[in-house]
Amino acid sequence: MECSRPVLDRHSPRRYQLQWKECRKEKLMASRQKLLLLLMALSFAVAVFAQQSTVKKGPAPYTTASSGKEMYKAYCASCHGPDGKGNGPAASALKTPPADLTQIASKNGGKFPQSHIYEVIRGEANTPAHGSAEMPVWGPVFRSISGGHQAEVQLRINNLTNYVESLQKK
Ligand code: HEC
Repeated sequence: MECSRPVLDRHSPRRYQLQWKECRKEKLMASRQKLLLLLMALSFAVAVFAQQSTVKKGPAPYTTASSGKEMYKAYCASCHGPDGKGNGPAASALKTPPADLTQIASKNGGKFPQSHIYEVIRGEANTPAHGSAEMPVWGPVFRSISGGHQAEVQLRINNLTNYVESLQKK
């Protein structure tokens, strides 16, 4: 929703100032989000481009939100590999090697950190501990694919998290 210049109230110019400031901040954030989305699309294009020579041509297909496996194949396997071991066709084009997704539980004392991985995939949490420039931020991408439906975005990330969990080495 776009904000607009608030109506000037002679009796409380301070409030007007605050509202306008808030509004401009919102606008700035919206434009930052657009930039982020653009960057995402670009890095995706790189991954798809790198994939073209070895696998198949074409943009990433729309996938159903109900299948973690299908989404994984469409959005993740190019970097993390079909089995999650980090050997996807686009991996060699990256500076940071894609994580081996089958080792997450064993690196975490045998327990799969569900909500942490959910946040890593969403990519928008303000935790400095993770997230390199090369692991795409999926939250905005799924929001765009899902037409902004928050429940569908959550379903997508949940199903992806469950799928990644199913890849763990026992
Ligand atoms: C463009 C390549 C690329 C794509 C596509 C990609 N990733 Fe990643 N991913 C990375 C890289 C690189 C890292 C390692 C980041 C780091 O070490 O800072 C990573 C890290 C991760 C991690 C953290 C693993 C850990 O041990 O903490 C998870 C989970 C993950 N990716 C899941 C996914 C999922 C799910 C998808 C698809 C929706 C996906 N990735 C798509 C490149 C990619």
